[in-house]
Amino acid sequence: MTEGNSGVDQSKPSIARVYDCLLGGKDHYVVDRAVGETFKHDMPGSVAIAHANRQNLVRAVRELALAGIDQFIDMGSGLPTADNVHQVAQRQVPDARVVYIDSDPIVLAHGRALLEGHAHTRVLQADVRDPQAIREHPDTVELIDFDRPVAVVLSAILHHLNDDEDPRALVRYWQEQVPSGSYFFISHFRSGDNPQTAEAEAVLQSTFGRGRWRSDAEIRALFGDLEILEPGIVPSSLWRPDVASDPLHAGAAEAELTVWEQLIVGGLAWKA
Ligand SMILES: C[S@@+](CC[C@H](N)C(=O)[O-])C[C@H]1O[C@@H](n2cnc3c(N)ncnc32)[C@H](O)[C@@H]1O
Repeated sequence: MTEGNSGVDQSKPSIARVYDCLLGGKDHYVVDRAVGETFKHDMPGSVAIAHANRQNLVRAVRELALAGIDQFIDMGSGLPTADNVHQVAQRQVPDARVVYIDSDPIVLAHGRALLEGHAHTRVLQADVRDPQAIREHPDTVELIDFDRPVAVVLSAILHHLNDDEDPRALVRYWQEQVPSGSYFFISHFRSGDNPQTAEAEAVLQSTFGRGRWRSDAEIRALFGDLEILEPGIVPSSLWRPDVASDPLHAGAAEAELTVWEQLIVGGLAWKA
């Protein structure tokens, strides 16, 4: 094992670093690049999926900030990239508070460097499967006021949890912690019911040793009784596309998307 002081293991691929590679970032190692190249070859849409997901997240956060939400908890936040939740939110609400959670030590290392001296944003190394530890962490307690609406971001993270880790219970935990008027953004890999995507799911599972893509009904069930807002749970590139910057997807139908573009869906829900 190659491990530096930061606890980053450079000998095994990490989800955060492979994702960074697909997004065109620079914070990954040879082992991640090798997996990234395999994905690009075996799953020709993986770069498009990563970008579609990321842009969906950015649009959702922007809309929430425009609606006055000024507290965000971003679970499985990933490595800092071109536009991060705090940057998108703080563009609209300069003192918006953001807590990033990721289990990968590299996210902590890079996140802390990016956020040095940033009073309203923190990055915690924690496991989303232990929500109570996140809820009770001093940084969460200091930054997030749970008496006011919060946005809980679960972008491309729940499909990295197995069924027996009960991702629905995780969403329910946070639903119980936040007041009405809070929002949940979830994006998730969708089982495509075709040999191409079944194979891609198998590649992902064997690479990272975990995770599950879910059917539309299973993804819907993750939201429980939260009220899902327009346009529902749809392929990420069709979730409120920017007419100006993405005229191709504005008004497009799902059937017009490639099989890969249909693979990641996003939805925004509200706690009434
Ligand atoms: C595909 S990336 C998504 C990044 C970002 N949320 C986005 O949508 O652009 C998934 C992230 O979840 C993190 N992750 C996976 N399992 C986790 C866990 N159990 N607890 C915390 N983070 C986890 C990975 O390290 C990775 O950074």
